[in-house]
Amino acid sequence: MPGKIKCYTPAIPSETVSIQEIIASLFPMKGKRILLGISGSIAAYKMPHFVRLLTKAGAQVRVVMTPAAKEFVSPLVLETLSKHEVLCALASDSQWANHVMLGRWADLFLIAPASCNTMAKSAAGLCDNLLLATLLSATCPVWLAPAMDEDMWHHPTTQRNMKTLEGFGYRVLDTEYGELASGLFGQGRMLEPEKLVQLLEDFFSAEQALKNYKALVTAGPTYENIDPVRFIGNHSSGKMGVAIAEALAEQGCQVELVLGPSNQSSSHPAIHITRVRSAEEMYQHSVQIFPNCQIAVMSAAVADYTPEQVAGEKIKKAGESLNIQLKKTKDILKSLGEIRTEQQVLIGFALETQDEENYARKKLLEKNADMIVMNSLRTEGAGFGTDTNQVVLFERSGARHETGLLSKKEIAALIVKRISELASQKINT
Ligand code: C5P
Repeated sequence: MPGKIKCYTPAIPSETVSIQEIIASLFPMKGKRILLGISGSIAAYKMPHFVRLLTKAGAQVRVVMTPAAKEFVSPLVLETLSKHEVLCALASDSQWANHVMLGRWADLFLIAPASCNTMAKSAAGLCDNLLLATLLSATCPVWLAPAMDEDMWHHPTTQRNMKTLEGFGYRVLDTEYGELASGLFGQGRMLEPEKLVQLLEDFFSAEQALKNYKALVTAGPTYENIDPVRFIGNHSSGKMGVAIAEALAEQGCQVELVLGPSNQSSSHPAIHITRVRSAEEMYQHSVQIFPNCQIAVMSAAVADYTPEQVAGEKIKKAGESLNIQLKKTKDILKSLGEIRTEQQVLIGFALETQDEENYARKKLLEKNADMIVMNSLRTEGAGFGTDTNQVVLFERSGARHETGLLSKKEIAALIVKRISELASQKINT
């Protein structure tokens, strides 16, 4: 029972800031090892400029290219700017290119431009060139900056490949709208080098924000068994929760993700996933993990009721109606709210269909949370299953933040930014 759980204050990450940390916050790219993979797309002509921007920002850069990329940009230029040999082939006359070490050397592997062909091959796990072999052996975060014509970008295969790559835990960056190689205007342009550097700087400075923190995230639906064949479930896809787990991990946080039955996953090295099915299992894991975390985000759509009895055998069709007696499940968020310490950041979700703001504010108090993320099923493009969401954040302080309709990844990044701020306020008070 919630009242019987002991909650120890988890160690708060150190407040003392070292000289190295100050330098890292001022020059986030300094000393960072960026492995740049260039594939065959016209946008490859921008990469010498990109390499120059990176080295000026203090990064170390190594370049691998696909054979097709050499048609678009000269390896000699990239070699001169990166001050390192540019690798293209799995083996040369004298040497075998050690793709495993390259993947391990890097703090981040960015494939830019990522052509349609390289994305398709990556999604299928092919490795018939050095760039792809390096990708398969990379242990660092992987990003792709796609570049292609609009029709190729919108093709269902490309969109499916993109989802597959995201499922591997890779970050697929957006494309821009504008003039394309074909002369047409549309979506599919690679982000400009300056924008790529900005995203990398954000990533490496953000990485510091939750370094040494641990977070518990619940996500997905729960299934409550009726008999060996049927269950009570809901439409939650788990996308929002997994996006939050990844956004936390990208900021250096170690994440324990307790995930209900969902086809979502993550291969981010900082995320440990425990798969559960029922509300009770989710509760048991959550209360066990929570005392060691400084942050908890309850984004799961947990069943509020579960069958009182689970039939041992399949219930046979008989009369005109069937009554199933249900009992209340344990409210995980509320239970954590009862045992939390003031140093812990506790976040809940509210999915409403009416009187949204009142319910969200009530929930904030009832569940003793620091913030409630409210989304409404009345907002088109928000809620279950979609790739987009629109939320309002209600905080204990009374603060209220509204977002527009954004991708779930972008929403997750905004929520995590606010979590980082709340966490740092707690350290400083
Ligand atoms: O009360 P309601 O279900 O609307 O609250 C939603 C919030 O509470 C979400 O953060 C959800 O993850 C959490 N919750 C929970 N355990 C339950 C029910 C809801 O953690 N049994």
